[in-house]
Amino acid sequence: MRYVIANWKMNLNLAEALTLGQAEAGLAADFPTVQVIVAPSLPWLVPLREAIKFHGHNWHLASQVVSQWQPGAYTGDVAAEQLKGVVDFCLVGHSERRRFHHEDGPAIQGQVKALLAAGITPVICFGEREKGQGNVAQTLLRHLDHELVDLDLEKCLLAYEPLWAIGTGKPATPNYISAVAEAVKSWRDVPLLYGGSVTADNAAELAAIKSIDGVLVGGASLHLQEFRHICARFAGQVGVQ
Ligand code: PGA
Repeated sequence: MRYVIANWKMNLNLAEALTLGQAEAGLAADFPTVQVIVAPSLPWLVPLREAIKFHGHNWHLASQVVSQWQPGAYTGDVAAEQLKGVVDFCLVGHSERRRFHHEDGPAIQGQVKALLAAGITPVICFGEREKGQGNVAQTLLRHLDHELVDLDLEKCLLAYEPLWAIGTGKPATPNYISAVAEAVKSWRDVPLLYGGSVTADNAAELAAIKSIDGVLVGGASLHLQEFRHICARFAGQVGVQ
């Protein structure tokens, strides 16, 4: 089973989200071997869940954020407990959260624990800031060992997103991704996605990388045909446009 996650980030109004959400949910039926996961902005989660009545077991909603704390006096935050029944997955540690909201080790630990307690699968993002500085895989593993210590990773997904590849139009090469992915997989055998400038054009070569289990797609997930093409490649359907 492979995973294709649409991270819409802070884009789309309600009408746009409903239209694109319905269409992307339809892709789950077209590509039953792919888990199609859509992560809209928080206010669109419930309207989307209600609007999309008929969908395959392989369509899921994800939240882009969650609080590390239990419900209580935390203005503006959303508890894992509140997301229960609304989403099946939640992004954790995305580089934009780390950068703009200073989410770091303790916050990430707390978020993962809260999500697991609520029965939601964390998608834990990590990646190096600069390309190819020293032994990237070893540096990343040291970071993961430290940041994810004592967490039940069996119930998580990992997403390798080199920061220099996010939103730059310059994805990591398959060789570069494989080197990291193989090291991570031998560290912990959990599903591992790649993210960073995934497009319809590079989806085929990414889908051919055996050590990754899917992709986390930002910009390209806002365009139905492009996202469809990526899902098709991960479903192994080479001829589908
Ligand atoms: P991108 O974003 O596909 O636009 O590079 C990926 C991400 O931030 O998850």
